[in-house]
Amino acid sequence: MTPFIDIHSHIIPGIDDGTCTLNDAIEMVEYAANNGISHMVMTPHIHHGRYDNDKQSISRPFIHLQQAIEKKHIPIHVAYSGEVRIGVEMMEMLIQNKIPFLGQYKEYRVILLEFPHGQIPPGSDRLVNWLIRRKIKPIIAHPERNKDLHEDFTKLVPFLKAGCLLQVTAASLTGKFGQKSQQLSQLLIENKWAHFIATDAHNMKHRPPELREAHTFLVDILGKMEARKLFYDNPWSIVKNKF
Ligand SMILES: [Fe+2]
Repeated sequence: MTPFIDIHSHIIPGIDDGTCTLNDAIEMVEYAANNGISHMVMTPHIHHGRYDNDKQSISRPFIHLQQAIEKKHIPIHVAYSGEVRIGVEMMEMLIQNKIPFLGQYKEYRVILLEFPHGQIPPGSDRLVNWLIRRKIKPIIAHPERNKDLHEDFTKLVPFLKAGCLLQVTAASLTGKFGQKSQQLSQLLIENKWAHFIATDAHNMKHRPPELREAHTFLVDILGKMEARKLFYDNPWSIVKNKF
């Protein structure tokens, strides 16, 4: 069976609202490996004023975790990036090279970009165009959970036209974020607007690193080959240079 590549998770301990301790993180990573995930890019929040992370604050605890994973011989490959909250602050951080990129897409460097859950802030389209002009391609994290998009998913169109890619959360597909998120996640996938499924794992209790359930669910709808693109081919094409 083809393994899964997870491009969105909060497993590096102690730097955002994900795992708190190294032991918790190891438990999450073991779960991910058993779930069929072979490669995982950990993406702590980079959110000005809330989680003031940058390349340096992420890399240090990441290396510590990576060493613990190797010591325990857990069969998984890990790398780090960040989930960047949209806002003017990210512009300065990008100029200063403080944001760790998720990967590469053709001539573009790629970031995982987050909107607030309640809305798409005015001016977001201009910010996205600023990124594209600088050859930075955003993957929009979990649009299916955004309240503005629950009301009107066509608000995504300007972002798709600008060149953004979309990442849907596995647990949205299986209904764990409610009916609206489930319906929108299916619609985005069936319309071929979404290119990636990821865990957005935060903890073992409510948001574990689980992709297998969503994969089984999607194989029934799309067939094996189409599902493989979302869980393996597309994410691997972006992140392979990190491993
Ligand atoms: Fe996230």
